[in-house]
Amino acid sequence: MSTPIPTIRCRENGPLVIQGPICVLDHQGNPFPLPAGKDVFALCRCGSSANKPFCDGAHRQSGFEGNNLAPAQPAV
Ligand code: FES
Repeated sequence: MSTPIPTIRCRENGPLVIQGPICVLDHQGNPFPLPAGKDVFALCRCGSSANKPFCDGAHRQSGFEGNNLAPAQPAV
């Protein structure tokens, strides 16, 4: 049985959506409590959340723009 690979998805003009078995630590190495039973949550990348490091939806009012795309993959 393989271990799921954690995935980080950059939402357009929004948070980083994390999926997979992962823990989030503060700068002292202490874990933030994560919602029980959930393996998907969003980290703020706009700086406006009142619940950092988690997204609280404030990016919608802040005018945050984040729409970088990954570079094209070479054809195989
Ligand atoms: S990305 Fe959602 S509040 Fe910052």
